[in-house]
Amino acid sequence: MKIYGARALKGEAKLPADKSISHRAALLGAIAEGVTRIENFSDAVDCRSTLGCLRQLGVGITREGTEVTIEGRGKRGLRPPETPLDCGNSGTTMRLSAGILAGQPFDSVLVGDSSLMRRPMARIIEPLTRMGAEIESDGGRPPLRIRGRSKLNAIDLKTEKPSAQVKSCVLLAGLFAEGNTSVTEAVKTRDHTERMLEHMGAEVAVEEKDGHRVSISGKSLLRGSSITVPGDISAATFFLVGAACLPGSEVSFRGVGINPTRNAVIDTIRRCGVEIDLTNERVANNEPVADIAVSTNGVGAEMLVIEGGEAAKLIDELPALAVLGTRLPKGILVSGAADLRVKESDRIAAIVTGLRPMGADAEEMADGFRVGPSRLKGARVDSAGDHRIAMALAIAGLLAEGETEIVRAECVDISFPDFFEVLDGLAVR
Ligand code: S3P
Repeated sequence: MKIYGARALKGEAKLPADKSISHRAALLGAIAEGVTRIENFSDAVDCRSTLGCLRQLGVGITREGTEVTIEGRGKRGLRPPETPLDCGNSGTTMRLSAGILAGQPFDSVLVGDSSLMRRPMARIIEPLTRMGAEIESDGGRPPLRIRGRSKLNAIDLKTEKPSAQVKSCVLLAGLFAEGNTSVTEAVKTRDHTERMLEHMGAEVAVEEKDGHRVSISGKSLLRGSSITVPGDISAATFFLVGAACLPGSEVSFRGVGINPTRNAVIDTIRRCGVEIDLTNERVANNEPVADIAVSTNGVGAEMLVIEGGEAAKLIDELPALAVLGTRLPKGILVSGAADLRVKESDRIAAIVTGLRPMGADAEEMADGFRVGPSRLKGARVDSAGDHRIAMALAIAGLLAEGETEIVRAECVDISFPDFFEVLDGLAVR
């Protein structure tokens, strides 16, 4: 894919539906009683992987345009899969499904593409094993072979590292446990699972005590619901950064999820002197939503420093923020983000390796990166097969002089199939 410099970004951008919320709506709908209708379900390949796994488990799913209907089979109605469940590139599909499958009376095997097969799963195998699940893996990596078990034990888990996928996996397994299962986290991660569980009638309790604690009763039953998925703020981030870097830009988005556990990027970009307005704030199926408008006359800030818990809250936005660093007077310094190394690619290596041939002053650290103010020039760069790296490099290409060629750019389909069309529609040349 070839990208050319732009003077500004202008217009209203159509965002893909939130990926995290789409996965959860399908997974919870599958084990609910009755039908779940999901409006604006994500068209991303990752969410198709979740639907594919659920079909293999006997769940009836129909799709008409952007509406997906899930025929819930209840907690005990899934069917044993005949072949391994293919989670594709999606860590969320594998880790959340494992929580549900650990409590089923039948065996199942979870596999994925070459990236997912390298990703760490010990983080879910350990708590699920404590709950009585039996899981074999390849030294903590997929394939995951889950033995049938119809009753799990409740646990009280304190997570060592912030992870919404680990929290969600354990809460979903908690639906099949005797008693109350709880997860306490020092840094509150995205809470879409607990919000949707509540929305679908589960007995969920949230406490702010020695951290953020969420509990679920194993007696909970879910009822099929109507869910409208908001626009994905992590996808919006690429345009927020592009607009922030190109003075005179004005971009807006309608119906974006602004869940407080996901919206840290808004304040981070505001800290750089960029105006971001939220209007029409509302709540849709227990998730806050708003229209967003960004406009800028240039960034002005000291160094943007992101560390510790803040890095965890921006984990999916960090590749895009690396590009913002090239336009900040003192750049960006990110630490406490070692988990970036075990995402769809090693995102610390991939973003630094991608930005350097473009002339960026960028360096890797064990748990983060530094990007200093840089004048970018077009180059041939590699996405590492990672959707967020491909999109971040495309934004870098807008800021660069000349032509940027992104190799393996088609991976944007994983979260944002129309990314390049939307970008092209906003770019003012
Ligand atoms: C996600 C959680 C995060 C995030 C991923 C989606 C989710 O992963 O990076 O893109 O939907 O729960 P971790 O839980 O591994 O931090």
